[in-house]
Amino acid sequence: MCSQPDPLTLRDAIYWAESIFESAKIDSPRADAEWIVGDILSIERPKLYLKPDTRLTKTQTERLRKLVSRRGDRVPLQHLLGYTEFFSLPFLCSPNALIPRPETEILVETAISYLLNRPMPRILDLCTGSGVIAVSLAHNLPDAEVVAADLSISALLLARQNARKNGVSGRISLFRAHLLSSILDQPVFHAIVANPPYVATQDVSGLQTEVRDFDPALALDGGPDGLTLLRQIISEAPSLLLENGFLLLETSHDQPHRVADLMAASLRDVSIVKDLTGTDRFVVGFRKPRKGHRRSAVA
Ligand SMILES: C[S@@+](CC[C@H](N)C(=O)[O-])C[C@H]1O[C@@H](n2cnc3c(N)ncnc32)[C@H](O)[C@@H]1O
Repeated sequence: MCSQPDPLTLRDAIYWAESIFESAKIDSPRADAEWIVGDILSIERPKLYLKPDTRLTKTQTERLRKLVSRRGDRVPLQHLLGYTEFFSLPFLCSPNALIPRPETEILVETAISYLLNRPMPRILDLCTGSGVIAVSLAHNLPDAEVVAADLSISALLLARQNARKNGVSGRISLFRAHLLSSILDQPVFHAIVANPPYVATQDVSGLQTEVRDFDPALALDGGPDGLTLLRQIISEAPSLLLENGFLLLETSHDQPHRVADLMAASLRDVSIVKDLTGTDRFVVGFRKPRKGHRRSAVA
């Protein structure tokens, strides 16, 4: 690792860290440098350049060296800082759960758009991980009740911390469950949402270092074709949905059409939603009217 002059100014610290990250082929070298320097100096990113000549203390410079070195070794930024932002809310991160991805914000946005006018919606977030989806929905839908489930106890503990951090723990119930196995088998939910593991087993080893080596394998591996958990959710979820309720799933970029075909067997009005880059990524379908019942508004 190259050396840097001492004591550094804030501006120099950012440029130095950025140059290390460029050499390490980090995807967003400037942004990561800004996050790290901002964290060290306790300055929010948008305000970083207001005092570019601020000098780092010796202790701050030592911390900078350590964090930049570890990020240069491809440790994810979110693990180094211990937090991230999702849907404009603060979340704790740890190696026990997937680092939330920006594209998942579209899943939250889509769910909110369908639930905005629904009084007291009941939502199930399967594979909740750090709880970002459940917490963001509870935060933006103030009378929603959310059930959040995951197989990983350590992920659930993190989700609990995140629910508390965002002031919504009173409206989120956390369950350890293998998909829908321990969830009440009754049509009680207005929405079931999930970002399940969907990477095909053979593709896991080819993922970016930060993902392959630092996200939990349980959060990634979706079985031989990546669709094992998606298939199971699609087959089990409809019986838990209230009439007109919906199932909304995140998939990888090459799965939406297969997932839409699977959903169309048991749900109506199945459609595909694009992510921030305009790529097909999410699939939504609505509960069909039950046989012998006239179509009515959701309870
Ligand atoms: C892709 S991560 C999604 C985490 C979070 N919802 C997000 O969007 O950032 C998938 C999650 O599914 C959980 N998971 C894996 N297999 C599961 C299973 N059989 N039943 C329930 N959860 C499972 C993992 O522990 C992990 O937290």
